[in-house]
Amino acid sequence: MKILVVGGAGYIGSHMVKRFQDTDHEVEILDNLSTGFELNAQNYKLHICDLSNKDLVYQILKENKYEVVMHFASYINVGESYSQPEKYYKNNVTNTLNLLDCMIDLKILNFIFSSTAAVYGEPQNIPITEAQKISPVNPYGNTKAIVEKILKDYDEAYGLKYIALRYFNACGAHIDGTIGERHNPETHLIPLILQAASGRKKNFTIHGDDYDTKDGTCIRDYIHVMDLAEAHLLSLEDLIKTQNSEIYNIGNNKGFSVKEIIKIAETVTNTKIPYEIAGRRKGDPAQLIADNKIITEKLNWSANYSDLNTIIKTAWKWEKHLSKSN
Ligand code: UFG
Repeated sequence: MKILVVGGAGYIGSHMVKRFQDTDHEVEILDNLSTGFELNAQNYKLHICDLSNKDLVYQILKENKYEVVMHFASYINVGESYSQPEKYYKNNVTNTLNLLDCMIDLKILNFIFSSTAAVYGEPQNIPITEAQKISPVNPYGNTKAIVEKILKDYDEAYGLKYIALRYFNACGAHIDGTIGERHNPETHLIPLILQAASGRKKNFTIHGDDYDTKDGTCIRDYIHVMDLAEAHLLSLEDLIKTQNSEIYNIGNNKGFSVKEIIKIAETVTNTKIPYEIAGRRKGDPAQLIADNKIITEKLNWSANYSDLNTIIKTAWKWEKHLSKSN
């Protein structure tokens, strides 16, 4: 199939694009390079375009006759979504609508969407099933929940078929060491811990140790980015075959606290990681763990790289690469 990966120069998008290398699918990238890197797209046809430029989006989709669009291009920083909500609503919602409207006009009706566990807000039960109430607690989560609603309505009205994947905590780097996580500024747990291990950062700050969890720090479900990419590939192939729109959690069904991650990182890096405890970060639920039964059973997906040792080993290899090149 001919596939457009929007946001293919970013962290998860670049692992997706690389996953297509061993398949028969033909892949192109559309990216505005605001947070992605041209280097990630060097082996592919890259359309540099912002989704706010609807005319250009339309022209690119029309000229290239894609059959599927995968959409990874969004802002993801929860803290920033509080201070600059308009940036999040404009890009994550309005620009996504631009893309969808061009697709509908051109009868491109297969769509894979990056959603998030943040749509659940404070979960009612752990592990979290897809049936749990959608109740985001921050603007970032709101934007993804809104797009999920739009997708449902577009399916009913225009026959848009979609899979929305609710990511838990994406992490790790490609096992071949060529691509990995690189945000600026970095806000994510594992890269920050490893920057403290490599010496790129002086120390690491734990945001809150007074949560109602086993050691007081937040618990998250960490899923390796290559397992995420695999879930997208299986979703896409199933969507083409069945034409059934679906929503899946993608997580590992296991939770680790911040302190547990620090411990594993100390073992993998053989370094004592300096850290301090600070207050809670706004909008952080105490615990998020996925129930991944539906995707596991329906698509025969399994997480093959998401044991914490592999996650941190691959992220450490990538951190060493980054610290050398800085
Ligand atoms: N944390 C720290 N110190 C830091 C950074 C993070 O203690 O310097 C803690 C956070 O408080 C949280 C955990 O580490 O408890 C994980 O934090 P991340 O920022 O790595 O990830 P989040 O769980 O906040 O967010 C991630 C994605 C979001 C998505 C969310 C869904 O980045 O885009 O998962 O669960 F919305």
